[in-house]
Amino acid sequence: MASRIILITGANSGVGYAATQVLARASEQYHIIMASRSLEKATKAKSEIESAGIKGRLSTVQLDVTDQESIQKAATSVGQEFGKIDVLVNNAGVGNVDVDVATRFKACLTINTLGPALVSAAFRPLLLKSSTPTSIYVSSGGGSLARVADLTAAKPRAPGSPDAYQASKAALNMVALQERADFHDQGLKVFIICPGFVRSNLRGTSPELVSGWGMAKDPVTAGETLLSIIQGERDADEGKFIHKDGIYPW
Ligand SMILES: NC(=O)c1ccc[n+]([C@@H]2O[C@H](COP(=O)([O-])OP(=O)(O)OC[C@H]3O[C@@H](n4cnc5c(N)ncnc54)[C@H](OP(=O)(O)O)[C@@H]3O)[C@@H](O)[C@H]2O)c1
Repeated sequence: MASRIILITGANSGVGYAATQVLARASEQYHIIMASRSLEKATKAKSEIESAGIKGRLSTVQLDVTDQESIQKAATSVGQEFGKIDVLVNNAGVGNVDVDVATRFKACLTINTLGPALVSAAFRPLLLKSSTPTSIYVSSGGGSLARVADLTAAKPRAPGSPDAYQASKAALNMVALQERADFHDQGLKVFIICPGFVRSNLRGTSPELVSGWGMAKDPVTAGETLLSIIQGERDADEGKFIHKDGIYPW
């Protein structure tokens, strides 16, 4: 019987998929709810992960972070089925670098910042029913103000300007920290993580972009970082901007 219910948004691809796989293989205690804007993609991903062998359990739910009705429906159905969640992983995101400034800012801020704020608000009543409520935000080192302010640091090799993406992740970090300030007294632990530069569809779907020009790592490494947080190994880093090997400055 699963004792920890973990909901991951954007679980059908990249970091979310790998995290689901790592967690489901790690323990029979974990029930991972794979939230995806496409139930078809989630069902396919769930079957693939299950057929490779897991200890935990998986289920799926439709959830588009830009659609409040979809978010609320997902929260209601998860509440009816499970009564609580123990871990919420706000992972869904986009890396929009459209040449049109308004297009890329609208996409990044809507999906990467407003989306997680809406998801957290809708699921928080279920999360706070847990004895170990844990809220994890998948941010990006690109959202570190200090790192971008450092002109000597290596710049991301993006096909267009990453300004909107990075602004959306810096703002996401504030959403996370404010949630921590508001709900710390109720036992909520908040973690902000950068999954690292890993293979996924974030940059695009061509082999060159998925592999980050051959430099991106296996997203399983990001899944392992999430597992270490969920297992309590990173508790000293609660409320910080963490990556696999340490802490990023804000
Ligand atoms: N990969 C990296 O190198 C890297 C580095 C730093 C941070 N990150 C962060 O890691 C997170 C996961 O991205 P990824 O790299 O795994 O990219 P990905 O493979 O493109 O996965 C992104 C996931 O988000 C979903 N998504 C997009 N828009 C959505 C919406 N409106 N509602 C619900 N789900 C939506 C996607 O669904 P569809 O499959 O339907 O598009 C997909 O499941 C993102 O927050 C990203 O910013 C990634």
